[in-house]
Amino acid sequence: MTQFDLTGRTALVTGAGQNVGRGIAHALAAQGATVLVNDVRPDRAITVVDEIGASGGLARSAVFDVTDLDSVMTVLDQVGPVDILVNNAGNGGSGPMTPQPFVAMPPSAWEGPIRVNLYGVLHCCHAVVPGMCDRGWGRVITISSGAGTAGVAIGVSAYSAGKGAGIAFTRTLALEVARQGVTANSLAIGLMAVPDPTVTERLARSIPVGRIGTPEDVAAACVWLASESSNWVTGQTIGINGGSVTS
Ligand SMILES: NC(=O)c1ccc[n+]([C@@H]2O[C@H](COP(=O)([O-])OP(=O)(O)OC[C@H]3O[C@@H](n4cnc5c(N)ncnc54)[C@H](O)[C@@H]3O)[C@@H](O)[C@H]2O)c1
Repeated sequence: MTQFDLTGRTALVTGAGQNVGRGIAHALAAQGATVLVNDVRPDRAITVVDEIGASGGLARSAVFDVTDLDSVMTVLDQVGPVDILVNNAGNGGSGPMTPQPFVAMPPSAWEGPIRVNLYGVLHCCHAVVPGMCDRGWGRVITISSGAGTAGVAIGVSAYSAGKGAGIAFTRTLALEVARQGVTANSLAIGLMAVPDPTVTERLARSIPVGRIGTPEDVAAACVWLASESSNWVTGQTIGINGGSVTS
């Protein structure tokens, strides 16, 4: 048994069909957790379930849109108890987010970022945190962004609002469930690869350690926060960002 052993735990990772979420799903499975691979895209979820199975891990797909509360409740009711929730679904660097200054933004453009980055977190917590409290153990890990703790870029105000709200929610949730053995923390992650390698290279130069992040960087922190080793860590927002200052 390793220090971060998760055998016997069930972990739900939202938006786990690619990139950061996929890396987190693989890492939790490698520590022995049974991983419920969520994505709004069934093809992506099934591919990751197959990959984990091929590496000897345990995984099942849990397909729903985190912004749709009915669908979240229906699917999670079917899959059974969740011990570890990783709120990862969001629109990240390679997602559908299109930078747009707020003064040029029609109200319809802020609906999506707020719904997925805030309501997605609220919906999944609503579905699984009461059960964690009843069973006396649980972990909530909200994948946020430096954009949720500081103004880091022009054109991402609605995304920042959603990410910041997810952090604020997670912090207060932590207080409310602390005596039930449930911890709740956020990871404010920095830049991951973008499709254009020359842009990635340019961005890397602004990061103290000299490189952008990888899904494995984020997954390692998730494994720790999901494990017994982090028992006394709750209500925190931890920067996983190569040393960038975003607070
Ligand atoms: N990529 C970055 O540079 C970066 C930086 C900071 C924070 N983040 C955050 O990290 C997380 C992961 O980012 P990423 O780059 O891997 O994202 P990504 O866009 O590459 O992948 C997100 C996955 O989530 C799924 N998804 C999207 N909306 C969903 C919904 N409503 N319900 C269920 N699944 C949904 C997508 O189908 C996709 O497979 C996000 O929360 C993002 O905001 C990313």
